[in-house]
Amino acid sequence: MAADDQTLIYLCKMSAVQANSAVRVLAEGYEPLAVCNVGGRFFLIADTCSHGLASLSEGDIEGGQIFCPFHGGSFDIATGKPVERPASIPIPTYPLIEIGGDLFVAAKT
Ligand code: FES
Repeated sequence: MAADDQTLIYLCKMSAVQANSAVRVLAEGYEPLAVCNVGGRFFLIADTCSHGLASLSEGDIEGGQIFCPFHGGSFDIATGKPVERPASIPIPTYPLIEIGGDLFVAAKT
């Protein structure tokens, strides 16, 4: 799919991500990703915690942060910055593209 000369990779439907939860998705060229629904606003972050091999999409979302299910470290979902220790290294965030209820990420060139 192309929009504004950008090739997009389909991730999931917005309706597939419940409020204040995350869903793990895969996109070619990216590490595993997590689509996060923060009170109706959607964000795309790396799914793997920077402290270990936990899947952040299995953690809780509260106050704009996602909490790692392994050791409870947390990250600001909008920026990827670590908030609660033991998380200390930021996780990548990516622009999420919403089109008609579907969510996409730009393909890496
Ligand atoms: S693996 Fe995520 S805080 Fe340790």
